[in-house]
Amino acid sequence: MKKIAFITGATSGFGRACACRFAEAGWSLVLTGRREERLAELRDQLSDKGPVHTATLDVRDSQAVKAVVEALPSEFQAVTCLVNNAGLALAPHAAQKVDLEDWHTMIDTNVTGLVNVTHALLPTLIEQGAGTSIINLGSVAGDAPYPGNHVYGATKAFVRQFSYNLRCDLLGTGVRVTDIAPGLAETEFTLVRTGGDQASHDKLYGGTTPLQPEDIAEQIYHVATLPPHININRLEVMPVRQAWNGFAFDRD
Ligand SMILES: NC(=O)c1ccc[n+]([C@@H]2O[C@H](COP(=O)([O-])OP(=O)(O)OC[C@H]3O[C@@H](n4cnc5c(N)ncnc54)[C@H](OP(=O)(O)O)[C@@H]3O)[C@@H](O)[C@H]2O)c1
Repeated sequence: MKKIAFITGATSGFGRACACRFAEAGWSLVLTGRREERLAELRDQLSDKGPVHTATLDVRDSQAVKAVVEALPSEFQAVTCLVNNAGLALAPHAAQKVDLEDWHTMIDTNVTGLVNVTHALLPTLIEQGAGTSIINLGSVAGDAPYPGNHVYGATKAFVRQFSYNLRCDLLGTGVRVTDIAPGLAETEFTLVRTGGDQASHDKLYGGTTPLQPEDIAEQIYHVATLPPHININRLEVMPVRQAWNGFAFDRD
């Protein structure tokens, strides 16, 4: 089977690192994201390793998703691994102080966007059958409640349950589904979440040892290349220097 990965959010962070990791192993790549220049740069950087097709895509737009999948050049059509990575958190403040628009943006991207891409590629993945994978980027934020997590954590809980439910329906097709749930990882995530606040980024990742995008890309590559009879349902990955904290109390 020819190996073709379709990666959303390939312009930064985990998605970009995945593109590099899969390219290194000789996979054909379909790389998508909204920032066209970054996609072009990445294509230039990786195309000596193997075939790369790029498409500017906002995953929130179901018609655009469908159009990108339908317009794939023939050599990229038989996708064998979907990395549903595009996503974001916004407004790390108390729920009651957050704009409704920010909640909608997270739901539209992390939930609607992820199901848009999954729906468009399911027939292809089922056609390719055993050994194919859908790898969804969840988060530890989908399990651990914490202040300012409101809708972001809820979207990642959706990703976990959707991944499990997909497995039930795909039983017998050979298509694997995994929810990868990273902990603290140093990407553009916090810059996006804080509206470009470099000081917040530096404070969060400073003085500790966060995961790097390449750490998660390695896990994703591992999951995608396991023998076809193995399905990792969920993989939670944290830095050693991160752990949970206890309950909070409102006191007199
Ligand atoms: N970093 C962490 O600590 C962490 C932990 C757990 C889970 N995650 C999850 O991991 C995934 C990747 O995040 P990251 O940390 O790598 O952040 P990142 O560096 O900000 O990358 C996010 C990617 O998502 C893309 N994206 C955002 N909105 C999009 C849209 N509407 N349509 C298409 N692409 C869109 C961005 O591309 P464009 O802006 O070019 O569209 C970018 O390539 C996300 O789902 C995130 O929730 C991150």
